[in-house]
Amino acid sequence: MAESWVNHAERIGADLHLELSGPGGRRAALIRALREAVRGGRLAPGTRLPPYRSLAADLGVARNTVADAYAELVAEGWLTARQGSGTRVAERTLPLQSAAHGPRKAPPRARGPRHDLRQGTPDVSAFPRAAWLASYRRALHKAPNEVFGPGDPAGRRELREALAEYLARTRGVRAEPGRIVICSGVAHALRLLFGQDSGGVLRGPLAVEGYGLGFHRRLLGDAGVRTVPLPLDAHGALVDRLRRERAVLLTPAHQFPTGGPLHPERRAAVVDWARARGGLVLEDDYDGEFRYDRKPVGALQGLDPERVIHLGSVSKTLSPAVRLGWMVLPERYVGGVLAAKGEREAWASVLDQLGLADLLASGAYDRHVRRMRQRYRARRNRLVQALAERAPHIEVTGIAAGLHAVLRLPPGTERATLEAAARQGVALDGLADFRHPETDLPPDDGLVVGYATPSDHAYQAALDALCGVLPPPQ
Ligand SMILES: Cc1ncc(COP(=O)(O)O)c(C=O)c1O
Repeated sequence: MAESWVNHAERIGADLHLELSGPGGRRAALIRALREAVRGGRLAPGTRLPPYRSLAADLGVARNTVADAYAELVAEGWLTARQGSGTRVAERTLPLQSAAHGPRKAPPRARGPRHDLRQGTPDVSAFPRAAWLASYRRALHKAPNEVFGPGDPAGRRELREALAEYLARTRGVRAEPGRIVICSGVAHALRLLFGQDSGGVLRGPLAVEGYGLGFHRRLLGDAGVRTVPLPLDAHGALVDRLRRERAVLLTPAHQFPTGGPLHPERRAAVVDWARARGGLVLEDDYDGEFRYDRKPVGALQGLDPERVIHLGSVSKTLSPAVRLGWMVLPERYVGGVLAAKGEREAWASVLDQLGLADLLASGAYDRHVRRMRQRYRARRNRLVQALAERAPHIEVTGIAAGLHAVLRLPPGTERATLEAAARQGVALDGLADFRHPETDLPPDDGLVVGYATPSDHAYQAALDALCGVLPPPQ
């Protein structure tokens, strides 16, 4: 690492950031600067220093000044000089440990599990690198100079237009670019809508599904929003229990995490509730493109764009690291959300927005989604088949959709199964992790299996390990 850094620095003539200042002339200043760099850890033990000539040229000093400084530091033991391997930082020098002078040692990073079946991540080995690069290159090439100034909080027009077309075509969303606000993902959208810092475009109490993403509940709680759990069954949330809440957050295409779609009658009923009560439905369309048994059911927003806020992101289709998402809003909320974002775009990189706009407009996004749909469908089929053969008493519930499946476990076995899985290096979540603390639903034992998470080559081993830790029939 140190070797390559210095070699690289030499090759590209990079500045080693040596400040020549203080008393005693250039030679003394260079000695002090090099000593400091070694002592502070910027030049690590074993690092090869640039040849006299290139450092002299960089610093604007005579070659002999550098040669003398190196010689002095060799004599002091800071550096070593050996024929053929140049001048290096001596191995025994230890950088200062104090925070003021040296770099902090990074905390040790936890190694990932052997078999990662945690939900929440697409197969990151399948990120469309070539297509993304091509789109980014094209987008940068044709971007006008104003792109590199502060961004518009609504998001780039190019992206909002591409999204309006894409969401209408693939999800039945009624979206004009003027109703779309770009953000960094669904979590950010919720913060913008409910965050008290920005005046709170919406207020609680907010009804949520009895099982859902704890992360969302917590961020809403932090914003002072009380979440009220709705009971759930195989047809989704019991929306006839909505009472005095001002809004309801739902995952209508594929209930997260239990996996059913919201029944057509409930879709209609929740919109009727919103109309009658002046309420709002927040539609979290987190994996709406991935339906394997039939064409995806369109977005709820299509039923009433004035009563439904549609939220989506690229976190499941591309990667949660890209941090790009969107809100399709009733017009009356656009101004408030933009005010909550502030005067300049501070969240979603404008260059990434242009890259995504090109990916959408060129059709590369559609091709990627299609490819991933096939891959995840095959993964789900393999999971279902492995269970049929090796654990037929374990039922996979929910529709064939998305990036995760729920395996129902015999009552009382969830915790022990998760512990057995952990001992075998299998990481996955239990249903209990997603249960709203105030729901009166009876606890259900189950595993939430993120079958999209491993790479293709790691999937079979993960499946085998999973089957090995499932409880026997009772
Ligand atoms: C239920 C649910 N909603 C939304 C998201 C996406 O969140 P974000 O767009 O903030 O990455 C996820 C996870 O990817 C999710 O599981």
